[in-house]
Amino acid sequence: MLSPESAAVVRASLPLVGEAIERITGHFYDTMFREHPELLDGMFNRGNQANGMQRQALAGSIVAFAGSLLTDPQSRPDALLARIAHKHAAVGVTEEQYAIVHKYLFGAIVEVLGEAVTPQVAAAWDEVYWLMAGALVAHEARLYVEAQVRPGHPWRSWTVVGRRQETVDVVSFLLRPTDGQAPPPVRAGQYVSVRVRMPDGVHQLRQYSLSSAPDGRTRRITVKRVGGDGTPLGEVSDLLHRTVRVGDELTLSAPFGDVVLEEEDAPLLLASAGIGCTPMVGMLEHLASAGSTRPTLVLHADRSPADHALRADTNRLVSRLPGARAQFWYEWPGAAEPGAAEPGAWAGRMDLGALDLPDGVRAYLCGPLPFMRDVRAQLLAAGVPPRHIRYEVFGPDLWLADDAA
Ligand SMILES: Cc1cc2nc3c(=O)[nH]c(=O)nc-3n(C[C@H](O)[C@H](O)[C@H](O)COP(=O)(O)OP(=O)(O)OC[C@H]3O[C@@H](n4cnc5c(N)ncnc54)[C@H](O)[C@@H]3O)c2cc1C
Ligand code: HEM
Repeated sequence: MLSPESAAVVRASLPLVGEAIERITGHFYDTMFREHPELLDGMFNRGNQANGMQRQALAGSIVAFAGSLLTDPQSRPDALLARIAHKHAAVGVTEEQYAIVHKYLFGAIVEVLGEAVTPQVAAAWDEVYWLMAGALVAHEARLYVEAQVRPGHPWRSWTVVGRRQETVDVVSFLLRPTDGQAPPPVRAGQYVSVRVRMPDGVHQLRQYSLSSAPDGRTRRITVKRVGGDGTPLGEVSDLLHRTVRVGDELTLSAPFGDVVLEEEDAPLLLASAGIGCTPMVGMLEHLASAGSTRPTLVLHADRSPADHALRADTNRLVSRLPGARAQFWYEWPGAAEPGAAEPGAWAGRMDLGALDLPDGVRAYLCGPLPFMRDVRAQLLAAGVPPRHIRYEVFGPDLWLADDAA
């Protein structure tokens, strides 16, 4: 809980800090990585550093957290904290590292804001930082226990037992634990971090949703090769595509992620676009193996049928679920379309107006941010309350930070 004295100072300095926070976090990262280069080896995603995404996410989350404390000093913006804690556990953040981040973040605040940082301002923001850090540390400690791993060491070696080219730029890898030991269970919708050594010797982590976890020992990730066409090729996705074959070993974290399929009877809507299909297919598989009869609408948008990864799996799983129905949208349905070969395919962008949304529907979204914003707006317009709409972002969650702020 934020003290009343600090609350007044934070309220007064929020505009100042909010306006400068991107410069502050930019400075913070530069100094921290210069003095702790080990954090860029096997922890921070240098792609996100290069494109500025992670900087915006950290900045947005702190301002959002401070803002919510001011509205209600006892408040804990749960969704924001859960999202960050799961991501932190998946990259192996430890309690000790919060002191490192604190040192460089506050050094950067003083550097950027100069004399505006009176001792009172520094103390008030210190309190905000440690309240947020305390909540995150507690959450992460629980996650490490649940995942049955040592704090900061979520890693285990997996052997690639299958590789399947899904589309021109998407490949699936089927994995089993290298030591043969059964890993702790997964919740449908979760992701793992994959830890790889790049050609320059630096380790990099990326998250991949489990597109299948058919039994206790087998897991599948489905990876799209990103970049190209004027932007740098995605370094990890490209490496996985080019170099990983059956028989190779991959280092994966335990599964984490707060956007999981809740076990309830309410009607379900799974809406994805592009590679956002992966957690949805994982959820569908879970429903099928549980013999679910839940009314389920499976919606997917893609460039074309040929680009639609896991399309056959989606159709197969939907056919095993008596309450499920699929509807696909393609920007370029192709010559044989619309509809001839596949009745559930329409041309254009996803349009919920063409469907009957059941009352009480629980929606899960995954895909590019503009897609999710659009579908979320359609759902809200159709009367679905925000608390019944969950979404997974395949990158730092800028949207959530925007929303909470
Ligand atoms: C929870 C979660 C689940 C995910 N699940 C999946 C999944 O199931 N399947 C999947 O394929 N992906 C998934 N992702 C995305 C995945 O983690 C990676 O982000 C993705 O594979 C790209 O990583 P990369 O190393 O190939 O690209 P990076 O090298 O990280 O590059 C990312 C982007 O930044 C651009 N970029 C890089 N350097 C620069 C630069 N200097 N200037 C400008 N732009 C630059 C690249 O062109 C590229 O478009 C998920 C992400 C999250 C957070
Ligand atoms: C109060 C302190 C902290 C805050 C507010 C914070 C905030 C965030 C946020 C908002 C994200 C993005 C989550 C998302 O994907 O949506 C993130 C990711 C991350 N954080 Fe933190 N964090 C804090 C402390 C730390 C510490 C102590 C470390 C370890 C040195 C750390 C390492 C990371 C890493 C490695 C990622 C993933 C980065 C990436 O994939 O680009 N964070 N954090």
